[in-house]
Amino acid sequence: MSKSVYVETFGCQMNKSDSEHMLGLLDEIGYVQTDSVKKADLMILNTCAIRENAEDKLYSYLGVWRRYKDARPGAMIAVGGCVAQDSGENFVKRVPYVDLVFGTHNLHRLPELVMQASKSDVPVVEVYQELPDDLPELPVIRQNPHSAFVSIIYGCDYNCTYCIVPYVRGREKSREPQVLLNEIQELSDADYKEVILLGQNVTAYGHDLNPVTHLGELIELVDAKTDIKRIRFLTGHPRDLKVEIIDSIKRTPTACEYFHIPIQAGDNRTLRRMARGYQVDFYKRVVEQIRDRIPNAAITTDLIVGFPGETEEEFLNTIRLVEELAFDACNTAAYSPRPHTPSANWPDQVSEHEKNERLRMLNTVVSEVSLRCNKRYLGRTYDVLVEGRSERNPERMTGRTRTNKLVNFEGDESLTGQLVDVEITAANPWALRGRLLNQQDKQDLKGVHECALSHN
Ligand code: SAH
Ligand code: SF4
Ligand code: F3S
Repeated sequence: MSKSVYVETFGCQMNKSDSEHMLGLLDEIGYVQTDSVKKADLMILNTCAIRENAEDKLYSYLGVWRRYKDARPGAMIAVGGCVAQDSGENFVKRVPYVDLVFGTHNLHRLPELVMQASKSDVPVVEVYQELPDDLPELPVIRQNPHSAFVSIIYGCDYNCTYCIVPYVRGREKSREPQVLLNEIQELSDADYKEVILLGQNVTAYGHDLNPVTHLGELIELVDAKTDIKRIRFLTGHPRDLKVEIIDSIKRTPTACEYFHIPIQAGDNRTLRRMARGYQVDFYKRVVEQIRDRIPNAAITTDLIVGFPGETEEEFLNTIRLVEELAFDACNTAAYSPRPHTPSANWPDQVSEHEKNERLRMLNTVVSEVSLRCNKRYLGRTYDVLVEGRSERNPERMTGRTRTNKLVNFEGDESLTGQLVDVEITAANPWALRGRLLNQQDKQDLKGVHECALSHN
């Protein structure tokens, strides 16, 4: 008889993608996905270690799951992801009622480990220090039928002084272009419209391959050799976003003009102490190179406030930079000291109160700036990939422009998964509202364009 599995995912897209592989792997030993954690035979928590609050949240989840487990004889709890990778055996000391702890480098072992755990009276713990060299292709059950995550590079070779990722995701390791092309063509054959090329540092793709290649070449290859309609990539490091990559994106019709390039801070002293490997002027040049070549590109970023030793004036430099560079959107966070990272032990930590104040002030500026950017979309028509019904307003459908703007509009469920034309009618800092164009509108629009052309 088949068993059921429920997976809860914290953290970044990498973790979401790993969860899809967990479901694929477990399917091979007869586990079927369920939406009900209470009824699951196997409950998996895929954890994130990036900030302390992400970690705290997982312990409260597990507290609740323990009751579900007690109520269902034979039910198991497994913990994977970045906290599991970091804690290993120690996790069991803190949460003795888990049945299995596995890391980020041994996902492929999950079926074997689950079977071991089901026969064992004590928790099974297995964590690898690095990804194995001969990593097999992993089966996958994707959660979105139109847009697919495709990991192109694992790990991170940087050592930013605040970041735990290199400790839990290991060194950079790119996947071979041919393997990626095969995977993406299969996706396109299965009617996927979009792929999101994933990595902690996708802009470093290919430096470790033989022959050496880069993200731009990969994007051009995917465009030329597969039928996928949209190519996205996430997350880039400014230092590795070379002009060749930007040029490839400009040349490639299916490559979306959307760049997520975390800057982290708008102050040179802070950037140096974060060990980011660039200064503000360098980053500004990268933005200029993008905007010169692709004027309608959206640029988004990540920012940390309250890094140890950050003065009020240095924080204000971040605020000024957000205004100057007019980011389309920013992920913002208060600095959180993490194990293994040098800055966690620095003496000049900023108080929680101050960090929260700075975060609040930054968020106000970020939303003003985003609103200004989004208002530029008003009255224009964009290509939107429809994701489904809006969760917040089930009357509306929701989708994304090539620049990753969320657009809500009235329309029929059957549009899900399609690329449609939407005219933007309203904007707020986080989303746009629009009107679906019908065939007649499109004819009219075509007429206008032809007319405009004939006047030139
Ligand atoms: N590889 C990407 C970032 C991956 S981590 C890059 O280099 O830009 C995702 C985001 O989490 C980071 O961009 C950073 O803004 C945030 N982050 C990482 N460590 C953090 C910490 N200790 N405290 C607060 N935010 C942190
Ligand atoms: Fe973390 Fe820095 Fe690597 Fe990004 S580049 S994952 S912030 S260490
Ligand atoms: Fe979190 Fe691990 Fe991603 S720490 S942000 S889930 S790589």
